[in-house]
Amino acid sequence: MPAEESNNLESDNNNPRHIAIIMDGNGRWAQKRFMPRAVGHQAGVKAVRKIVEYCAKHKVEVLTLFAFSSENWRRPETEVSLLMALFMATLQREITKLDRNNIRLRFIGDRSAFSDKLQQKMIEGEAQTQNNTDLTLVVAANYGGHWDMCQAVQKVVKKMATGELENQVISEQLINQHLSTAGLPDPDLFIRTGGEQRVSNFMLWQLAYTELYFTTTLWPDFDQNSLEDAIKSFKSRQRRFGHTSEQVLNKSVNL
Ligand code: IPE
Ligand code: IPE
Ligand code: MG
Repeated sequence: MPAEESNNLESDNNNPRHIAIIMDGNGRWAQKRFMPRAVGHQAGVKAVRKIVEYCAKHKVEVLTLFAFSSENWRRPETEVSLLMALFMATLQREITKLDRNNIRLRFIGDRSAFSDKLQQKMIEGEAQTQNNTDLTLVVAANYGGHWDMCQAVQKVVKKMATGELENQVISEQLINQHLSTAGLPDPDLFIRTGGEQRVSNFMLWQLAYTELYFTTTLWPDFDQNSLEDAIKSFKSRQRRFGHTSEQVLNKSVNL
């Protein structure tokens, strides 16, 4: 079977290694059904489970999910509390399952704003799964691209002040090593559900050459077929990284 017809991601090397998703549209999904937004967020968690399963099964290396942005604190307090409670309950329920499936969990974002209990659970989840070698599931919580760059610069400045780094040129590599995503490949495929066409302060540095995919499907409706459509779109594109189309076709350059 030709590679394009296969839905098995292991079977060719044109697959995204890292998929990053803005899971948007939970509120509208619920409102359409005359239900409270909370119901949409609960349905959103179910969609997460299916997408994680798909990525694990098809050997995606990294899946990053935007769960809560640094701007989401601006929502009504009741919704913020609900999201925090849902986050906690989901971690309590899922960590052992992730571990059993050889999935490594990692959080990015400023966790200092979360309750001690939640922070503890996040540490536990990372520790319990740290040696797992299949999918790396990155959950972006209280994450913002601006925050990420600020904290990276802060770390570099501190290392310079203490002498750990001396006369260091500020290179792209140095910044990469201090971002919250250090050690991970940049996203190959970015997906935003819910119809908005913006990046909302998500992985601003890391998305430099990522292929962007927008769909009007609301997050709770985004299923494995929807993800396959996004991957199909990704695979139909020619990534050039500044080269010409001919250079890429002739394989005269390393991408
Ligand atoms: C995304 O869905 C979930 C979070 C931001 C936590 P929304 O809650 O933004 O859903 P809409 O955009 O209001 O439909
Ligand atoms: C982005 O969604 C954040 C998450 C999905 C967690 P929002 O729904 O908060 O984004 P904006 O504010 O409409 O751009
Ligand atoms: Mg939204």
